[in-house]
Amino acid sequence: MRVDRRSVLVAGTLLAASARFPAFAAAPAKPLTAAQESRIAALIRAMTLDEKLGQMTQIAGGRQIALNSRLDAAALDRVRAGRVGSFLHVAGAEPLQALQRVAVEESRLGVPLLFAMDVVHGYRTIFPVPLAMAASFDPDVPRQAARVAATEASVSGLHWTFAPMIDIARDARWGRVVEGAGEDPYLGARIAVAQIDGFQTANLAGGDAMLACAKHIGAYGAAAGGRDYDSAELSERTLRETYLAPFHAAADAGVGTMMTAFNDLAGVPTTGNAKLVRGILRQEWGYQGLVVSDWNAILELMAHGAAATPAEAAALALRASVDMDMTSDTYADHLGTAVAADPSLLPLVDEAVGRILAAKARLGLFDDPYRFGDAARESAVLGSANHRAAARRAAERSIVLLRNEGETLPIGRDRKIALIGALADDASSTLGSWRARGQADDSVTLRQALGEVANVEYVPGAAPRSDDQGGITSAVAAASRADVVVVALGEDYDFSGEARSRSDITLPGAQTALIEALRGTGKPIVAVLMNGRPLALEEALTGIPAVVETWFLGNESGHAIADVLLGQVSPAGRLPMGIPRRSGQLPMSYAHAPTGRPANPDLSVDSARYRDVDIGPLFPFGHGLSYSRFAYSSLEVSARDDGKQTRFTVAVNVRNTGSVEADEVVQLYVRVPVAGLARPVKELRGFARISLKPGQSRSVTFTLGSDQFAYWDDGWHVAAGEVECMVGASSDDIRQTAVLTLPRSYAVADGALAGAALATGVTIG
Ligand code: BGC
Repeated sequence: MRVDRRSVLVAGTLLAASARFPAFAAAPAKPLTAAQESRIAALIRAMTLDEKLGQMTQIAGGRQIALNSRLDAAALDRVRAGRVGSFLHVAGAEPLQALQRVAVEESRLGVPLLFAMDVVHGYRTIFPVPLAMAASFDPDVPRQAARVAATEASVSGLHWTFAPMIDIARDARWGRVVEGAGEDPYLGARIAVAQIDGFQTANLAGGDAMLACAKHIGAYGAAAGGRDYDSAELSERTLRETYLAPFHAAADAGVGTMMTAFNDLAGVPTTGNAKLVRGILRQEWGYQGLVVSDWNAILELMAHGAAATPAEAAALALRASVDMDMTSDTYADHLGTAVAADPSLLPLVDEAVGRILAAKARLGLFDDPYRFGDAARESAVLGSANHRAAARRAAERSIVLLRNEGETLPIGRDRKIALIGALADDASSTLGSWRARGQADDSVTLRQALGEVANVEYVPGAAPRSDDQGGITSAVAAASRADVVVVALGEDYDFSGEARSRSDITLPGAQTALIEALRGTGKPIVAVLMNGRPLALEEALTGIPAVVETWFLGNESGHAIADVLLGQVSPAGRLPMGIPRRSGQLPMSYAHAPTGRPANPDLSVDSARYRDVDIGPLFPFGHGLSYSRFAYSSLEVSARDDGKQTRFTVAVNVRNTGSVEADEVVQLYVRVPVAGLARPVKELRGFARISLKPGQSRSVTFTLGSDQFAYWDDGWHVAAGEVECMVGASSDDIRQTAVLTLPRSYAVADGALAGAALATGVTIG
């Protein structure tokens, strides 16, 4: 398929090709039929300009917390007039069937509507937040979560989710790190593709799938200082290698839609960035899917200073190839003025409408506009026992054991536990920041779950949102009566998410005072972290022997954490983002470039470090422990040139040397030590989560191609020479190394996947 897309480009027929409304070029799903294509072309011919602009308009049918609340008489009149193509923040089989009926039966052309919502990590059954699921290092976890979410959302009449969010983020001050897969483009690309597969399946018209939306293309996660919506200033190399890699992988996987970022990239707001969206995404990668703006972002092109009038803003976004306007009504109200002034915009309008209608056709809406939504099945499907079981498995697999000195964990059954911290009983926070139709009452808290199976005394002690230290005395008293203290620490759900950036990501409220007081009891302490972002906890965690990162784990949060604390489940999640020691270290990444003066522990040597904090993160990318230990041996590499690329295998043996069955996440990092420019000190290029019984060994074989070692230098290039291969248990725990040789230098073909966007093959022996 990649070849097809390139040949379209080489022939220079992109516009002609899109005018025939081909299927999404990268989609694994079936292409549009000739009948669908001609129906779309006929509809476009029949539409007035206002009806076309209507298709290009998405309006809010409600609010995130009050779905359907804006479906009033005026909204229905707009539908009848053909002035709306899509609604967001709507849900429910019955109301959406009724709304669709207005479009199909009462508008002139009867074009069905697209119903959209942010179904991010669950619809009614809530799974762990996306950052947590990335920590599973098991793409099947987010794939299953997306599958369940699509099954539930589609039975409720929805066609389209604004997920996955695949922005790479290396600054945990940015509140939206909770929505993505963390700092690494290779992990991010794999998690992105898994979610797209889960939402869309191979058959979007199957009735239990939905359109996915890779968002927010550009460099939204690189906002300066981690301040949401702020500018990104990046080299093209970093943009291509790091921030765009998951988007290229998503386009290749056939994601049906993409959303542009709010912010500007080197001064050009992404929603009006023709070089990025029309140039890289459409022309270079051949992406034919629907591109939607973010909320009000087309009108905001004026606030950016990119446009003087709404008509200019509309023309800018259209030229950039943004097909649908989310909520600003700038296309609906002002694109007509721009088209009248410049008729060369009209073919671009037709192209955009073609892509929107193609999305509707792929969902099967022209054959049966009511195929999504089934009121009779809705209550049986939402929150079903199977879905809860999948959510529990996902929660268990997302937990990361960060520290376990003296085998403090698991806690013995006979131990008396003091459970402390308001977060331990905060059902609402288990749902995270995008909760769709999730209910706090459906969630099991740690207090509830642990209380059912262990001898627990619960005391809130302190809460993230309060400076009140009044509860600390009773917390200390409970700790003194217990054998072991389990303290839930972190942020509540509303500290992270959109517009939730923080300059200081240490523990909020009275929690620092609480942990200090608990340390004074001398009891063994298990810190259970709950948060939507990595926090800067070096001081808070000093002297705490056991630390478990539990993020926000969804409805089954309590059961999953209790099972890990009591040893029913051996944890094996890994950090998808390093945890800093202090906020001032941010942004940070394990995949930094080497410098002429590498960080040196000796302060008398001038080196690339801060003088007032130890070098590196508190816990690095890829870090995570289990209740067992693993030995790595026999690393073997092989190479074979197939004329296009050099193909490599990297095989290693892993043995469980402990006494319990557990999972290990085997990680492959690479480095090109000499390439005429500085390449990262390590880059993830493969991982495998494997399960081993005590004493059991397994081989893990990674299969790579040399395009995966390409770097961007005004095109993708591969340099002849050595590649260091590092296999281990985290980015900072390399157990085996080997050197590969790339026999020749070459340029990767324009538009082809390269670097982190490409997947490594994995075979488990
Ligand atoms: C967010 C998007 C989201 C949209 C619709 C915006 O504010 O940036 O991620 O999909 O709202 O809810």
